[in-house]
Amino acid sequence: MPTVLILNGPNLGRLGSREPEIYGSATLADITAACQDLGAELGLGVDLRQTDDEAELIGWVHEAAELRLPVVINPAAFTHYSYALRDALAMRTAPLVEVHLSNPAARESFRHTSVVSAVADGTVAGFGVESYLLALRAIAQLLSA
Ligand code: DQA
Repeated sequence: MPTVLILNGPNLGRLGSREPEIYGSATLADITAACQDLGAELGLGVDLRQTDDEAELIGWVHEAAELRLPVVINPAAFTHYSYALRDALAMRTAPLVEVHLSNPAARESFRHTSVVSAVADGTVAGFGVESYLLALRAIAQLLSA
């Protein structure tokens, strides 16, 4: 069973209490459980990780490239400025979907740029926890194509 890495960047460990009017009330543990349930349905293993550290996140992206693992990534604020993360993701060897809980295009102008989108197969944004589930379905589709 292929394993999907679901990587989460800074401040996403605070979901549940972090600006719930924007990000909702689900915690990262809730998102993990929902992704694991859907993964089981789709025949995909799920390995969900979160870090506030750019270097650690990039290390996981390198690991995914070496092991040919598909990735769903919510880069959080790194989305908007981390060329280092973008360059790491560009080395991918398997499907890659960018995901956001909120819709950055409808928020502050600094969130309108994603330096990551151009190296992803696609982006899902604005649907809360459902964004992650749609992204997992997209990965399943890309793996079966
Ligand atoms: C986010 C959107 C980003 O702009 C923000 O910095 C985040 C979360 C989202 O999931 O909506 O931390 O990636």
